[in-house]
Amino acid sequence: MSKAPHLVVFSGSGISAESGIETFRASDGLWENHAVEDVATPDGFQRDPGRVLEFYNRRREQVRRARPNAAHKALAGLEQAGFRVSIITQNIDDLHERAGSRSVLHLHGEILHARSSVDARMRYPLSKGGIALGDVCDKGSQLRPDVVWFGEAVPLFDDACALVEEADFLLVVGTSLAVVPAALLLDHLNVAVPCALIDPNARALSPPGVRPISATAGEGVPVLARQWQREGELALASEAG
Ligand code: APR
Repeated sequence: MSKAPHLVVFSGSGISAESGIETFRASDGLWENHAVEDVATPDGFQRDPGRVLEFYNRRREQVRRARPNAAHKALAGLEQAGFRVSIITQNIDDLHERAGSRSVLHLHGEILHARSSVDARMRYPLSKGGIALGDVCDKGSQLRPDVVWFGEAVPLFDDACALVEEADFLLVVGTSLAVVPAALLLDHLNVAVPCALIDPNARALSPPGVRPISATAGEGVPVLARQWQREGELALASEAG
């Protein structure tokens, strides 16, 4: 029997929009009414760590209240149907995991983890509550959210590129492809491999060679997933026959 096709998904904040989590560039460069440089840069944290911690504490509560939507669930459903699905997400929420996806690479970190501000390897899960000024790692340094801020390196970028290189299909969902290096991931796709972008703004955003599907994630992803499942079943039936 042939190997299950490897579907690689690259998701951005648009996939969580229908779960009630605001996208980044939704409101004039502000993120939930804050200037990005104040709350999502190392300088901003140095200037006012209390403000940054409080900002992420509120975002974390929002993530805990949110629920996976039809798009997250459809991707998890494909895995349950026997597809090999690897998700690369720019999102710091855990909605892919809560929907049931098992292979999720968080390019920009995870809001439900804290980490040391001196040693990125020292990570701590935040199953409840937030991070306060004075909460320290085992080396005695202030804890910070385990997220990648603007101007910081993206440690999992090479791992993400390796996944894209071995994809049989790349599905991009809900991202403006505006942030590097994440947007450069598409350059690692073999030119013969099909790629689609699901986003209400897909026509304007799709680079050459990428099939635009203008739809919200909650509408577009389940439709495509059902189509793949039907095609997968047909392929299995013809192998058996
Ligand atoms: N379904 C699908 N896509 C949607 C929906 C929806 N319901 N609503 C909005 N979108 C799309 C928008 O059209 C836009 O193209 O989601 C995209 C969101 O783009 P951005 O706000 O730029 O978010 P993203 O691409 O995830 O940003 C990348 O930038 O700020 C940093 O680190 C942050 O991970 C983030 C990165």
